[in-house]
Parts: sequence; C-alpha cells; structure tokens
Amino acid sequence: MSGFREFTYQNNELFVESVSLTEIADRFGTPCYVYSRSALAKAYREFDSSFAKRDHLICYAVKANSNIAILNLLAQLGSGFDIVSGGELLRVIKAGGDPQKTVFSGVGKSKNEMRMALDANILCFNVESEAELITLNQIAKDMGKIAPVSLRVNPDVDAKTHPYISTGLKENKFGIPADEAERIYKSAHLYSHIRFTGLDCHIGSQLTELEPFMQASNKMLSLLDKLQLQGLEIEHLDLGGGLGIRYANETPPSIKDYVFTLCASTHQVKQRLLIEPGRSLVGNSGILLTRIEYLKHTPARNFAIVDAAMNDLMRPSLYNAYHEILPVIRNNEAIRNYQIVGPVCETGDFLGHDRRIGLADGDLLAIMSAGAYGMSMSSNYNTRPRAAEVMVDKSAAHIIRQRENIDQLIATEHILS
Ligand code: LLP
Repeated sequence: MSGFREFTYQNNELFVESVSLTEIADRFGTPCYVYSRSALAKAYREFDSSFAKRDHLICYAVKANSNIAILNLLAQLGSGFDIVSGGELLRVIKAGGDPQKTVFSGVGKSKNEMRMALDANILCFNVESEAELITLNQIAKDMGKIAPVSLRVNPDVDAKTHPYISTGLKENKFGIPADEAERIYKSAHLYSHIRFTGLDCHIGSQLTELEPFMQASNKMLSLLDKLQLQGLEIEHLDLGGGLGIRYANETPPSIKDYVFTLCASTHQVKQRLLIEPGRSLVGNSGILLTRIEYLKHTPARNFAIVDAAMNDLMRPSLYNAYHEILPVIRNNEAIRNYQIVGPVCETGDFLGHDRRIGLADGDLLAIMSAGAYGMSMSSNYNTRPRAAEVMVDKSAAHIIRQRENIDQLIATEHILS
C-alpha cells in the first residue's frame, strides 16, 4: 500500500489513524475526501527537520490542496505558502497563515491580485516576464509601495515527468530564460518600485529523480554568481516544488534525500533556501472514499460504477494517472478484472482501469494518494455537488468542508426576465 502508516487495515477493515472508513462513510456520506492530520504533520516535520541548521522556508504550494483546515495546520507548524491567485492569498490569511512567509507564483497575475498581495505585504512576487515586472512596478508606485521580487528563471531542464506538468523546458510558458533574467536583474535601476530579493525556479511536478533538481540548482547558482559579481544583494534562492510521491511502483527519493540534495548542491551559498512543495506534503495524507452504486457485467467488461467521478478526482481522466484502489472491507467475493468508473456521461470518466479485485454492490472503496490535486481540481460538471472533506485526528473525525448542495450550485444563476 502506498503512503503513510496512517492508512492501515485492522481486522480486514481500512482505517485512517484510529477511525474506520466505514464509520466515516456512515457519518458524512460519500464521496468524501479523508485526510490524516498525523500524516500531514509528519511530512511537514520531515521536510523541516531535514534542513537542520540551514536557513530555510517551506512554502506549501496551496494549489495542491487549499482547504483552510489544511492551511491552518501547516501554518501552526511554521509553514509558509506559495500562492497563485488572490483567492489563495485570502485562504492563507483566513487560515492564519503569515503573508510575510508567502510567495506569489504564476504567469498571469492580474493587477487586482498584485494590489491585494502588496496590501498584504507578502514576502515575494515570483515574476515570470518583463511585461509582468513593468506592471507590478507601476502598481507598487501607485500604491507607494516597494514590491519584493524574484525572477522565475526557466532553467531549460527536462524534469522527465508528464508533459502537462513539466514546466522547466524552454518551450514551456513558464519563467524567463537565464540570460534574459540576468539582463533584467542588471537593469534593476529602471524599476523604481521593485526590490530584487530572490531568485526562483520550478521545473515540474511528480519528479521521481534527483538529477533534474541538481541540474536546475546548478544553473541557478551560476546565475546567482553573476548577479553577486554585479553587486546585487540576493537574499533567497527558491528552488520550487516538484518532489514526486509513490502512487504505484514509483520510487521517488525520500523527503530527506531530496532536502539533503538541495542543501548539498547549494552549500557554497549563504542565501536562505525556499522550497514550494505541494504534492509531497499532502498527496499521501488523503484518500477519496467512494461507494459502489452498481456492478455491471457486460460481455466485454466488468464495471464498478461508483459515486465518485472525474469531477471529484480529475487526475486519472486528465493525465491517465494511476491511483491505487482498495476495498474498505476485504471480502471473499470472486476476483475479477474491473473498470472502476463514475456516473459522469463520458467514457473518459474513470478512476481506475483493469483492477483485479473482488467487489459487491454497496461496497466502499478508497482511492489512495488523493490528498494532492484531488479536491482542489474538482468541479461541478454534470451539476454534481462537490464532495465533503473530513480530517481525522487520532480517534476523532472532523468535517472540514461540508458537502455542497444543489441549491448552492445554482444560487448565482438567473433566468432572463
Ligand atoms: N511551485 C510552482 C510554481 C508550481 O507551479 C507548482 C505546481 C508547485 C510549486 C508545487 O509542485 P508539487 O510539489 O506539488 O509537485 N495537477 C497536477 C500537478 C500540477 C502542478 C502544478 N504546479 C497533478 O495532479 O499531477
């Protein structure tokens, strides 16, 4: 089983910490995301302790899972945040996160979002183009503020991951080529209301090798060297996120090895290290709990039609991603080859293909490793209210987001009068 020891069978029944998933389904209904507080805290502490004495800031990538209970837990543990919208900034603030520990990434920040972030006094804007820098300078000037900035450099490194989530190649829309970034840093005097405080990169997500991280960090160091020779005071080096997790048979580096590698490959510089992990903090801390509505056997296939669908967990449909699917109660049904599919009207609506498993009508299933990019990418397609979210803390299960209802979905729509 992938993930942490917080998801284990006890007498053939799957538990999250000390709470059975059957009990959670009975209390909160399905589909339902279930997170382990302990797994999340452990992952954060593993990142944090691996840095040892190195000056660092972990900026959790909010997009991976933006529930404010999760943000609040991370804030309590000392985490900073990496945001990509004004909405994520408001979530961080509402969750008690510190804007002074928050960096703002993304290629298309709107003027309004820039104003919100300047008002909140965030730690840094990770700027991705000269055009964005010019706009930010103007807005900061209008507000009588100085905007702290890192340029996001595109190091042209192959992250060897799914093309949709690879961001560090020169043909990707992200970042600024290193030589161009160097030119912009050197023209700092042109920007009266910008202060260059950092240097940033992010090469992709779900990386299962360390090599691309090292290549990127080497490129960043050589740029940092050049900037320092010019007398530019760079305070932090942000190496982005991207560490992969185990969904099936992948063997990603451990959090410890990853952090050790980043620290080792930057040992010669004094700058504070920032990282922006998302998936590796929350991915294996959550599951999606779903119930079988119907079993359907056709001459060609066996289908288990469950009450969760692509609108709840988009990753299988969008990236052909694999998530392990486990029965909540191990039974003695005949093992068959099943297609685990949702009720949405698309053949692309599946959660797992060709799973060998024994199933009965009404059984509960756990879609594993669904804590990252699960709920945060969910939608209301087919006018399906979004799932509930529950956080387990030892023997207690807390609702951290109510299931949506249909009235909420249509409340803001109007018929022409
Ligand atoms: N920093 C930046 C600037 C990012 O764009 C991302 C993710 C992260 C940090 C966090 O990366 P992580 O540590 O989570 O790999 N929806 C896709 C993943 C998209 C990642 C987008 N950027 C998925 O479900 O696989």
